[in-house]
Amino acid sequence: MELNVLILAAGKGTRMKSILPKVMQPLAAKPLLAHVLDTAKQLSAQRTIVVYGHGGELVQTHFANEAIGWALQAEQKGTGHAVQVALSQLPDTGKTLILYGDVPLTSVDTLHKLMTSVVDDQSLALLTVTLANPSGYGRIVREAGAVQRIVEQKDASEAEKQIAEINTGIMCVPNKYLHRWLPTLKNNNAQGEYYLTDIIALAVADGVTIHTQHPASAWEVEGINDKLQLATLERVYQRLQAENLMRAGATIIDPARFDVRGTVTIGMDVSFDINVILEGHNQLGNGVQIGANCMLKNCTLADGVIVKANSILDGAEVGNNTDIGPFARLRPGTKLAANVHVGNFVEVKNSTLHEGAKAGHLSYLGDADIGARSNIGAGTITCNYDGANKSRTVIGADAFIGSNASLIAPVTIGDGATTGAGSAISKDVPPNSLAVARGVQRNIDGWQRPQKA
Ligand code: UD1
Ligand code: CA
Repeated sequence: MELNVLILAAGKGTRMKSILPKVMQPLAAKPLLAHVLDTAKQLSAQRTIVVYGHGGELVQTHFANEAIGWALQAEQKGTGHAVQVALSQLPDTGKTLILYGDVPLTSVDTLHKLMTSVVDDQSLALLTVTLANPSGYGRIVREAGAVQRIVEQKDASEAEKQIAEINTGIMCVPNKYLHRWLPTLKNNNAQGEYYLTDIIALAVADGVTIHTQHPASAWEVEGINDKLQLATLERVYQRLQAENLMRAGATIIDPARFDVRGTVTIGMDVSFDINVILEGHNQLGNGVQIGANCMLKNCTLADGVIVKANSILDGAEVGNNTDIGPFARLRPGTKLAANVHVGNFVEVKNSTLHEGAKAGHLSYLGDADIGARSNIGAGTITCNYDGANKSRTVIGADAFIGSNASLIAPVTIGDGATTGAGSAISKDVPPNSLAVARGVQRNIDGWQRPQKA
C-alpha cells in the first residue's frame, strides 16, 4: 500500500517558555521537526504532510526546500481535528503513518515494523508501550487481549487509570478509514477536544483488525514539552552517537562528555578526549586524535592528524600527520597539507599552508598562501585588510619569517627568502634575499632614567 506520512506539529509548546515554536527547538543543533522529517525520509513515503499552527511561518520558511505538504490548523481543537485539516491532502487509498513533531527519536526500525503490519485496508496498527508510571497518557483498553478503545487520562475511570499500556500516539491507518471516521468525531469529552484516539473504538465497530507494536526502547516514543525533557532526550541522543562511534572503533574517554551535532565518519583508532563537540559533517581519518575541549565543524582530517586541547576548527581541510594546537583556531578556507605544524594561539583563515610549513605560536594568517617548509615566526601577522578590501599574502617555499612581522598584503615573499624579526614588510621580497624593515637600533651611553619629582 502506498504510504503517506502525517506529522502533527501545531502544538504551541507553552511549557518551553520560548519565542521559538516547540518543533523548532534544537536537539543536537537540529530542530525537533527536522529529526522527524529525516526519519520520515527513510520510509519512502509517497508524500509527507506537516500540520502546523503556532509559529507556522518560521517553520515553513525553515523547511522551504523540503518536499512537504502543509496543512494549517489555525485553532487547536485536538489531535483528531489536526488530522481532519490534512484530510483533503490524503488520497482515498493507501495508508497514513501519523507522527508528532515533538517526538524526535523514533527509530526507522520501529516505524517499519508498525507500517508493515498494515498490509491491507482492513487493519490498522498502533504503537503502544507499557510504562511503570502511565499517568497522563491515553490508556489502551483491551478485552480478552484485543484492543477495544483508547481512553484519555482525563476521561478514565479509576480502574482504567490502572492500565499500564499507553498510547504513544503513533499509528498507521488506511486512508479509506481516516476519510470515513474523522468527520464523525465528537468532542463531548473532558477536554472538549476532537480526539484522534476515538478512531480506535470506531475501528472495532467496523470490524477492522487492530495490531499493536512496541518500540525497542521507551525513549523512542518520548515527546518533548519542556526544557527538562529536551535535555533528557539530548543526552539519550548523544549517548547513541557515542555508542555508534565506539562500535565503529573510536576511543571516547568519557561518552557523557562528547557531543555530535551532525554526522561523523571515522577511520580506525580515532580517539576523543573529554568535552569534544563535533558539528556539521566531520570526516576523520585513521589514528586521528582530538584533545580535550575541542570543537570541530565541517572538517576533514587525514590520517594521523593530532588536534591538541582547546582548539577550534571550522571548515578546515588537514593533511596527514599535521598537528594543531593547543589553543589553535582554524577558520573556514583553511587548508593544511601534510606534516604542517600550527601551534598555540595561531589563527588561520582562508589560507593554505603547504607541506611541512610551521606556524608555532601567536599568529594571524589570513588570506595567505604559505609555501612548503616555510617557518612563520611567533607574532607574525598578515595585514590582509585595509579597512575596505582583503588582499593576499604569498610566501614561497623554504622562507623564514622572523618573529613579530607585519606582512602588509598584497605582498609576495619569494622562495628561500628571509625577513628580519620585527619587520613591517610592505614590498615584495625576492627569492633567497633578506628583507629588514624596522628602525635601526641606537644606543645612548649613560642614559639617565627620569626621576620622581
Ligand atoms: C496524546 C494522545 C494520548 C497519548 C499522548 C502521547 C490524543 C487525544 N491523545 O495526548 O492518547 O498517550 O498523546 O503523548 O490524541 N497536536 C496538534 N493539534 C492539536 C492537538 C495536538 O497538532 O490540536 C499535536 C501536538 O503538537 C503534539 C501532539 O499533537 O505534538 C499531541 O498533542 P497533545 O496535546 O500533547 O496530546 P496529549 O493530550 O498528550
Ligand atoms: Ca502530550
